[in-house]
Amino acid sequence: MSTLTWNPKRVAILTSGGDAPGMNAAVRAASALLLSKDIEPWGVRYGYRGLIKDELFPLQAVDFADIIRDGGTILGSARSPEFMTKEGRDIARDNLKKHQIDGLIIIGGNGSLAGALKLSDPDECGSSYTAPRVIGIPASIDNDIGLTGLAIGVDTAMNTIVEACDKISDTASAFDRTFIIEVMGRDSGYLAMTSAVASAADGVLFPEASRDEDEVVDRIVHTVEAVMEKKQRSRRALIIKAEGTSVNIDALKTRVDAKLADRVGQDRPAIETRVTVLGHVVRGSRPSAFDRLLASRLANVAVSALLQGETRMMAAWMLPFSIPEHVGTQSHADPYCWLVQLDEVLAETQRMHDGTSPLVQWRSKVFEHIEDVLVI
Ligand code: F6P
Repeated sequence: MSTLTWNPKRVAILTSGGDAPGMNAAVRAASALLLSKDIEPWGVRYGYRGLIKDELFPLQAVDFADIIRDGGTILGSARSPEFMTKEGRDIARDNLKKHQIDGLIIIGGNGSLAGALKLSDPDECGSSYTAPRVIGIPASIDNDIGLTGLAIGVDTAMNTIVEACDKISDTASAFDRTFIIEVMGRDSGYLAMTSAVASAADGVLFPEASRDEDEVVDRIVHTVEAVMEKKQRSRRALIIKAEGTSVNIDALKTRVDAKLADRVGQDRPAIETRVTVLGHVVRGSRPSAFDRLLASRLANVAVSALLQGETRMMAAWMLPFSIPEHVGTQSHADPYCWLVQLDEVLAETQRMHDGTSPLVQWRSKVFEHIEDVLVI
């Protein structure tokens, strides 16, 4: 914990990357906490792009008082190729200097947190700039950010998927149909795995299993046949497919239909498969109560850390595994939260992507174990 005394006058808040329900709750909580300490909260429009284009403005209570229930982000978000260059980041630092802003709360996913680390890099700032202090808040429906149990938006996205699956289940049951439902999550199978359990799906396809197309087709066919053999229940089959699974959903339907058609017997009707891609529907919606709370608590931890002079850290929610002290420490502001090093977050995120993270290996193992139990 830093012992520096730091009295910022203004702190900017920025949302970046894919929007996630609950981002507004984090903006609201951070702004209110800053105001309560007589520090001016400033907003940045459209993430890092707005930092470069000088779209910074003082946030008034009227701007954020009522936003806790809104999805998306009132600050806007954007992808900024210019920010990937040192020249772009120097313009961003010039704008921060111009507005006398020397602290930032950055709310977003992996790319946004990587940007925070670059912006505050003392080597890159050199003697021309005072490195701005930055604290990250994890927000991404994908739940693919290292060193946090959950990111803002995951709970709402999961609820949206489960609600959609419940509806699809009604119509699937009426016709004894099979549905393959594709859900967002980029390279992560987390949303697919968890919503498969919560919606009583019969199968789940997730990228962490690294199955090739033939294996995926065989697994679906096996699942559908297992469902059809059950006499005591509706013969609908729901298969949740993570978008990161390397098989195109339409190609999958064609191959599954062809294989199932081969198996139609005298006493067995044809099995019809339908596909639904939930797409960006999963990212919208009013945030769940849990996401509002998570966002507010993480914002509290982030603001307290920033005001204590911390920088290049992320506020994290209940870590799934214990971590060494140089990676992070339990927050003094909230016993369920941690303050973890941003560079360690990115390193763990990389391990989650390449499959070497123990957490991802554990998730895959659990799902390989329960796959056959899903069809009950
Ligand atoms: O990272 C959030 C996310 O919604 C992913 O699940 C998805 O793959 C991606 O963003 C979609 O990005 P875009 O909105 O740019 O199409």
